[in-house]
Amino acid sequence: MTETETRALPTTLPPPTDAARSAMAMPLFAPLLPDWVHVSEMDPAMADSATLLPEERTFVAVAVGRRRREFAAGRSLARSLLASLGKEAPLCREADGRPAWPPGIVGSITHCTTLAAVALASTDDCAGIGIDVEANRPLPQGVARLILSEQEQRWIRRSDPRLAAETLLRVFCAKEALYKAIYPLARCALPPQALIVERSARNDSFVARLAVEGTPFPKDMLLEGRWAARRGHVAAAVVIKLA
Ligand SMILES: CC(C)(COP(=O)(O)OP(=O)(O)OC[C@H]1O[C@@H](n2cnc3c(N)ncnc32)[C@H](O)[C@@H]1OP(=O)(O)O)[C@@H](O)C(=O)NCCC(=O)NCCS
Repeated sequence: MTETETRALPTTLPPPTDAARSAMAMPLFAPLLPDWVHVSEMDPAMADSATLLPEERTFVAVAVGRRRREFAAGRSLARSLLASLGKEAPLCREADGRPAWPPGIVGSITHCTTLAAVALASTDDCAGIGIDVEANRPLPQGVARLILSEQEQRWIRRSDPRLAAETLLRVFCAKEALYKAIYPLARCALPPQALIVERSARNDSFVARLAVEGTPFPKDMLLEGRWAARRGHVAAAVVIKLA
């Protein structure tokens, strides 16, 4: 268990679950990000919404238990990382949902039932970060048609049928990570087809193309990301370089 995770956990919690033990043993996101990105993860089952600060608690006051735990896991990880950088403060939420990082910090939060993760860095090192995790199980029927461009549908149809469901999930996850990295800079609607994941021959990285105008970035700009499928999860991470 890292120092960050130790500080995040109240003493009255049950022993670590299998998911928590494996998160500690083999982090999912750290290998996907440069080493100057501060990253931490935990099993949300280990989080306690009582650890939320009053300013943070208001955002999940009427949420169900699972949402409160996942939100608390993200806040707890983020505050511990921020504290290690000398920035001790509640982490509030902007009206559009993105975390209100303190000045000088960019970052991203993701959570599913079995994993919560936070990645953050100095604005001296990059312009944006996006991370996303999903449980590795097939997406509901019909999602592919909603989120994929024609081009993406074509190359996924042509890929190994045994890997089709996981490939679709990787692309979904990559789009969410890309969205989280770009939205705070663009602050405009980005429909799922705004970012097109190109066919990747590699198992550990992907390239995506910005297919729309009207953002601070040029249309057809290429963005690189890394992805992985491990420990029952699919994860994707994107870092936007400084201009
Ligand atoms: C916002 C969104 C990306 C969250 O992703 P998700 O897989 O549902 O959930 P995750 O747990 O991975 O991420 C949730 C976290 O994203 C962050 N988030 C929410 N809105 C955000 C935004 N506009 N920008 C950046 N980060 C945001 C928050 O930190 C949130 O956690 P918190 O509420 O506990 O702080 C997703 O719900 C969404 O709106 N997607 C549609 C955008 C889209 O079209 N994507 C395809 C790419 S073109």
